[in-house]
Amino acid sequence: MKTLLIVYHTRGVKTAQMADAVARGAQQALREAEAEHEVRVSVKRCAEAGPDDVLGADALALGTPENFGYMSGMMKDFLERVFHPCEGRIAGRPWALFVAAGQDGSGAIASVERIVTGLRLKKVRAPILALREVTPAILAQCEELGATLAAGIAAGVL
Ligand SMILES: Cc1cc2nc3c(=O)[nH]c(=O)nc-3n(C[C@H](O)[C@H](O)[C@H](O)COP(=O)(O)O)c2cc1C
Repeated sequence: MKTLLIVYHTRGVKTAQMADAVARGAQQALREAEAEHEVRVSVKRCAEAGPDDVLGADALALGTPENFGYMSGMMKDFLERVFHPCEGRIAGRPWALFVAAGQDGSGAIASVERIVTGLRLKKVRAPILALREVTPAILAQCEELGATLAAGIAAGVL
């Protein structure tokens, strides 16, 4: 069985809403493709996730708020813990990023992308950025991302 891993952190609600939407979109796409038994959708907070989760994932979606012009501290902690154990072992696997921010978001995006570049993952789409509020359009983008990742690994095309 393949795995789509969604790892996120929040001390509020918005990044969690986005993570839920990614998972929802993935589950719906798998139902439609009758591939629910081919891909497991795993949603974890940064604090609960570690190298084994990442090594076992066929696709990865990361979510963080922007805090002080950077990714959240918990996302940084997660990436620090998984980077070296995963470096050179997950190259080419698909990934994407979603960010909730008050008015900017660029620092969170740049900081995550800079680190993930070293893991040589394949970015499947531009980061999804929710500014101030998580609109229905943003949730739809998150659902679409989940569908793309889940259906893509189920079909072996990502
Ligand atoms: C400690 C702290 C620092 C923040 N720093 C930034 C920032 O640098 N840039 C920004 O656009 N928003 C910043 N924000 C706003 C959050 O990114 C925004 O409220 C986001 O939607 C929170 O998502 P959440 O509900 O998942 O926690 C900050 C919020 C907090 C609590």
